[in-house]
Amino acid sequence: MTPLSTTISQKRVLLVKPIEGSKPDRSHFRTVSVTEPVPELVDNAVLVKNLIFSLDPYVKPADYTAIDGSPVVGFGIATVVKSKNDEFPVGAILFGPLHWEEYTVLDQMALAEGFRLDQALDRDVPLSVYNGILGLTGLTVWDSLNFVGNLKAGETIYISSAAGTLGQLAGQLAKRKGLRVIGSAGSDEKVAFLKSELGFDGAFNYKTQDKRQALTELVGEKGLDIYYDLVMDDTLDVALELLNAHGRIIGIGALSVHQGQAPYAPKNLMALIEKSLRYEGYMVYERFDQLEAFWKELTPLVKSGEIKSGETLVQGSIEDLTETYLKFLNGGYTGKVNIEVAKN
Ligand SMILES: NC(=O)c1ccc[n+]([C@@H]2O[C@H](COP(=O)([O-])OP(=O)(O)OC[C@H]3O[C@@H](n4cnc5c(N)ncnc54)[C@H](OP(=O)(O)O)[C@@H]3O)[C@@H](O)[C@H]2O)c1
Repeated sequence: MTPLSTTISQKRVLLVKPIEGSKPDRSHFRTVSVTEPVPELVDNAVLVKNLIFSLDPYVKPADYTAIDGSPVVGFGIATVVKSKNDEFPVGAILFGPLHWEEYTVLDQMALAEGFRLDQALDRDVPLSVYNGILGLTGLTVWDSLNFVGNLKAGETIYISSAAGTLGQLAGQLAKRKGLRVIGSAGSDEKVAFLKSELGFDGAFNYKTQDKRQALTELVGEKGLDIYYDLVMDDTLDVALELLNAHGRIIGIGALSVHQGQAPYAPKNLMALIEKSLRYEGYMVYERFDQLEAFWKELTPLVKSGEIKSGETLVQGSIEDLTETYLKFLNGGYTGKVNIEVAKN
């Protein structure tokens, strides 16, 4: 699109059948070419050029009622090219819910799910890092550990999906606070990475090892104090069994549900009463007021390499989104995965 264009010709990925309750595969997605008039913006809306898409375990359609399919909504970084919103002028860079296409209109409701990045950007840090460890996922981990986890040196924390975006940061931040850190991941390579690169005290392969046995052995006599749950599967029962008195379960993610399983209902909830446990959910969208404090603390640690961001940045186009996404969902990458489709 040039400034004088009256139309936008672009590629777009559609969700063509419901994704809830199933594991996404190729049949859920279709990439189309469209030519449309440059949209007239309603008040407070902006038109953005999409730069770097974040691949996350959950995507949704822009319109659940569209019969022929609706654009996939995922998060990412974009720059404003047309604006009727003073807080997001032309040239501003933002993180928000983008459609899987080259240009997207974001109204006020969509903008409220994201935030402006310009003021936070540090030139020594690649822009893509603001999709992960210095973005919403990083804020989620930092804030949930501080304000829900109430971590104490010497305690033991177990993190499921530990080699994923949130898991890697959770492990590193917990180690910095003096905790004993245990994680699980879906391949031996990831397990080795957690121990050798990120300093986890223990880790196991949840696909090839018995979870109860592996976790019981790793926590040992000291038991478990915190379960950082990114998965919401039957590991909850094991955690409830192993948690010490006044232990905490921090409910953050539901990877098993994104993969088509029903949300898991723990069986031994008596343990909550008997051991005075706390099971608390967390939602980052209520916590954007913590962004300044988060950036202030985390940016120097990421820049110095004290915190590793473990990112894969795929160079591609809208047409590569589906395949890269499916590979990501199937555990084909370690850590945060981004796909850059345009330069700023
Ligand atoms: N509460 C909040 O405010 C908030 C904010 C951000 C994200 N989240 C949630 O946090 C969770 C983790 O997000 P993330 O970005 O860090 O994802 P992620 O861990 O990077 O997700 C991809 C990885 O998940 C693992 N995985 C997939 N299915 C699994 C299963 N059934 N059991 C265990 N591991 C599985 C795979 O690795 P393996 O090879 O190890 O299987 C895959 O590589 C998601 O549910 C996300 O929606 C919540």
